[in-house]
Amino acid sequence: MCGIVGYVGHREAYSIIIKGLKRLEYRGYDSAGIALLNGNLNVYKKKGKVSDLEEFLGEDKHFLNSTIGMGHTRWATHGEPNDVNAHPHYSSNKDLAIIHNGIIENYSSLKMDLTLRGHVFLSDTDSEVFIHLIDDIRINNNCSLEEAVRVALSQVVGAYAIVIIAKDTPNQLIAARKGSPLVIGLGKNEFFIASDASPIIEYTNEVVYLNDQEVAIIKDNLLTIKNIEDVQMTPYIQKLELELEAIEKGGYEHFMLKEIMEQPKSILDCMRGRVDSVRGHLVLGGLNEYLYKLINAERIMIVACGTSWHAGLVAEYIFEEFTRIPVEVDYASEFRYRNPVVREGDVLIAISQSGETADTLAAIELAKSKGAVIIGVCNVVGSSIARASHAGAYLHAGPEIGVASTKAFTAQVTVLTMIALQVAHKKGSISDHLFRILLAEIESIPDKVSTVLKLNEKIKYISSIYKDAKNVLYLGRGYNFPVALEGALKLKEISYIHAEGYPAAEMKHGPIALIDKEMPVVVIATKDSSYEKVVSNIQEVRARKGQVIAIVTEGDTQVAKMADYTLEVPATHEALMPIVAVVPLQLLSYHISVMRGCNVDQPRNLAKSVTVE
Ligand code: M6R
Repeated sequence: MCGIVGYVGHREAYSIIIKGLKRLEYRGYDSAGIALLNGNLNVYKKKGKVSDLEEFLGEDKHFLNSTIGMGHTRWATHGEPNDVNAHPHYSSNKDLAIIHNGIIENYSSLKMDLTLRGHVFLSDTDSEVFIHLIDDIRINNNCSLEEAVRVALSQVVGAYAIVIIAKDTPNQLIAARKGSPLVIGLGKNEFFIASDASPIIEYTNEVVYLNDQEVAIIKDNLLTIKNIEDVQMTPYIQKLELELEAIEKGGYEHFMLKEIMEQPKSILDCMRGRVDSVRGHLVLGGLNEYLYKLINAERIMIVACGTSWHAGLVAEYIFEEFTRIPVEVDYASEFRYRNPVVREGDVLIAISQSGETADTLAAIELAKSKGAVIIGVCNVVGSSIARASHAGAYLHAGPEIGVASTKAFTAQVTVLTMIALQVAHKKGSISDHLFRILLAEIESIPDKVSTVLKLNEKIKYISSIYKDAKNVLYLGRGYNFPVALEGALKLKEISYIHAEGYPAAEMKHGPIALIDKEMPVVVIATKDSSYEKVVSNIQEVRARKGQVIAIVTEGDTQVAKMADYTLEVPATHEALMPIVAVVPLQLLSYHISVMRGCNVDQPRNLAKSVTVE
């Protein structure tokens, strides 16, 4: 969590940093702070959003002539969100300041030790310990800041992306990372540091992604990268392909709505150049080298969190149906701690929009250490998970900024379906005929999603009816069971209404007790192999006076007679229905959230990428 921005160059630093922090606010919005160097090292910080910090600073921006500084937007882990716990944190003598994203696990023993040595701590954060440790090493060893940082890094346990600024070196920023992302933008006589490329893109498209346990020293217009053993590394300069419009709202009120509405395009983008049904062609370049591992795998493990885990559940059904390879799907956070059986030759697919989720990354490392081949399915290019994988396929869905994941889910399911079909075709577990039919069906999905988006006004109306519900149940079966889970997650995370997703047939094993006339039940009842059974489940809900909102296939008349409201979606192969059927649920949660006055893009207590355990 937390967003980090740093700047050193010839421009006025304050505005660059504030603008960058606003772009990174999706990573956390508990507090914001900024440090600027201009003779003095001044820190300004405030609980709340970046706009609260701006308001606190008022009109008098006497620091506007500073050309070096750094800023932070926080998602609280250690210490409640307040002004004192906000970053940056000073060292005791206020000569140094730090911003930090991550968690220092051994902070309490370090803090005890440093307290005994006379350091006085102002905050409850683990991050403040970091800067006192660096300061202590610098003073006691009489060494340079760079050296002190390296020594400190060898003493801390945990994850970090840090930037440090020192009063006595007015042209220097030091940054380091382990487990939390950092990218450095290379301008003309200027450098940018950020948690992702969004604060950098309008100034330069040349970037260096820092690797774990590397330290970047930007001094007197020069970037030097070393590892923590003091060995100089050659920076690998990459060109950003990000467009500025992709990270702006483009006329929509919220990023979430923009991202829902752009799904026909994002799904098309993720299959662009990969699928050609006429030629019976399916290529995923990033997989080529390891495709044989998937084809020959005795089993496939899938790990992910949240929405990505739901995409993993859909993939389980698809892989097992078409490739006949057994699949197990785990929450990454469970997998990493349950001593899983992983054998040489097993394949682990890690799914992550951000590519930075700490639990997923840890699950990858565990499986890798036991000999598994890792296939990453990520959206963010160059992210930690993408880099930790042996092979993979990017989503190419464009930046997803709303905290509630929408277009990433539909792109994940699309990419995972493509992987499964490629494996199945090469393996011979599906016929060439079926392969071509499914490819054509994938190609038709963007248009079908466009059709679903036309339901927006009707969904808005249904939302107005159910916006005050206390609980909502979501039911689905087969391929649509993960869709029910995803619909429930969307509603709870942005509208704070309690919602549960269930396999429809499981309802009678418990949740049916909850159903009464107050309980809306959203049922995904599209025409597939479980349709008749889901219809019976709807009857069971109706018999208990529950209200039914049903997602049905176009032309369905049976469910329409039973449901309070129906939303018709175009027919498709049942394996692809999750991509189509999830869209009305995304819109339903969006409108309910707006009508309840919730912060859609930045729901309380959440952050976009969970880079801590
Ligand atoms: O970046 P990732 O896909 O790894 O993120 C996983 C979850 O944190 C994420 O899907 C989360 O559940 C979203 N807020 C759901 O909308």
